[in-house]
Amino acid sequence: MYIVKQNISGRDYFYIRKAERTGSKVRSKLVCYGGKTREDAERRLGELVGGERSVGAEKKDVSVEELAMFCKRKGFVYPSGEIYGGFAGFWDFGHLGVEMKNNLKNDWWNFHVRQREDVVGIDGSIITNPRVWEASGHVDSFSDVLVVCKKCKKPDKVDKNEIKKVKCVNCGGEFDWENLKDIKQMFEISVGVDGKSYLRPETAQLIFANFKFVQENARMKLPFGIAQIGKAFRNEIAPRDFLFRLREFEQMEIEYFVDPDEKCCYEVGDSEVLVFSEEMQVDGKEAVKMKFRDAQKKGIIKTVWHAYWLEQEFLWFTSLGADPDGFRIRQHISDEKSHYALDTWDLEYKFPFGWKELQGMANRTDYDLAQHQKFSKSSMEIMNKDEKKILPHVVCEPSQGVERAFLVFLFDSYCYDEKRKNVVLKLHPRLSPVKAAIFPIVKGEEYEKVSQSIFDDLKKDWNVVYDKSGSIGRRYSRNDEIGTPMCITVDGDTLKDESVTVRDRDTTEQVRVKIKDLGKVVRDVVGGKGVLKFGKVVETRKK
Ligand code: GAP
Repeated sequence: MYIVKQNISGRDYFYIRKAERTGSKVRSKLVCYGGKTREDAERRLGELVGGERSVGAEKKDVSVEELAMFCKRKGFVYPSGEIYGGFAGFWDFGHLGVEMKNNLKNDWWNFHVRQREDVVGIDGSIITNPRVWEASGHVDSFSDVLVVCKKCKKPDKVDKNEIKKVKCVNCGGEFDWENLKDIKQMFEISVGVDGKSYLRPETAQLIFANFKFVQENARMKLPFGIAQIGKAFRNEIAPRDFLFRLREFEQMEIEYFVDPDEKCCYEVGDSEVLVFSEEMQVDGKEAVKMKFRDAQKKGIIKTVWHAYWLEQEFLWFTSLGADPDGFRIRQHISDEKSHYALDTWDLEYKFPFGWKELQGMANRTDYDLAQHQKFSKSSMEIMNKDEKKILPHVVCEPSQGVERAFLVFLFDSYCYDEKRKNVVLKLHPRLSPVKAAIFPIVKGEEYEKVSQSIFDDLKKDWNVVYDKSGSIGRRYSRNDEIGTPMCITVDGDTLKDESVTVRDRDTTEQVRVKIKDLGKVVRDVVGGKGVLKFGKVVETRKK
């Protein structure tokens, strides 16, 4: 559902409409009048979205438009420059969005860099010497195919392997295949008086360009990886689906370098995932659920390294509570691969708008190091374990968009609770923007003093909130909606026994905890231990 503005006799009116697909046709249908202001319409839409859910409803039955509205209403994400009508492909993160995004990036860094001895990180510049992009092949090859719908005249991007095979997603019309255009994806910018360069379209090239320095300074020995998190920019023809396809986004990437003659030093595990190989796609078969280890043993995933990294990436998502059944790995078919890739698998997620790429994992071979060696005339060779100089290969490049991961965790955690009559965002506490909310049960100096002191103590380590406005029930729902895993209430007993009730977001059950133990409780809950592990469940009037 979405909101449209109509100007009737000089006045603005807002309506809620719904897109409905029948076969290849998408029709827009009026749902109801939303009000005279956008805020009224958003409120109405919020009620409708809530009203449509039921207990135990599939979490993913929230549409991407509804999620975008929810994110705006709660302060996660806003259309960039919204007061001027927004700007397609650009979004701003609000006070909760920035906390959640930082948590997500920190967790990725912890899992992929700090917890590993074979990966170190860098933070390269967004604008660099344009020769980097000539060497990488982006100046010549990084373009999209633009096609225009004959019926609704909307431009769209199609992948090379989709040419003459797909229809317009907006109206189901035929594309004008006779007049395809190549659109360069890098934003060209001027630098200084008459210099020019590009906004980087991927973080990866800064890793390759710094490869030799990092390897020497960090004294890394093969196999090893270099990681980076940072902004990337692409002049997408048709940005769409909220945070899915953007013009400005962030990537979390690792280039993992190996001696191609050496075997993988890790074992592939037995987590199960849907596997969709090139052969299955070409033969029109369904994806098959199997263990990563078996997919590699059967030769579906060709290298152990590739299978190992695919599984690691799947495990990162599931370690943060994502539903394993929402994922599959799909191999690129031959004409879909990037100019540098020998073999590519995507980790895909089942979004409400279909299975889509979440993370690309290409085997880039020695393509990039060889190109930079050639263009810069600086050797990129390093010693292997036999003290022989070699050009390492990137056997796998886990490359994850931050905003796509952000979307996955939101879709996966969004639930409407019919009993509570509000959204409960069941985020993993590590991702939750607010870790705990502290309330005095009623107004009163002694309650507020204790609550304030708990807040002052916890805020040294965590993003916590102190909330004394509105009924206790309202304060619980405000926090359920933004995914706060625990609410700490100071009540009459607190003044006698220095303990508080701690309410668990997912069950609404409460336990009694000593104030002096709260720091440890928050730490353990954020670490993944359930709130209810910290004491006996207590009966309360208001859960
Ligand atoms: N260094 C390799 C590389 O950039 P890619 O498949 O083009 O490969 C990697 O991009 C990931 O970056 C994607 O899987 C996706 O998560 C994210 N990404 C790419 N383009 C994006 C866009 N326009 N909007 C949001 N995320 C994007």
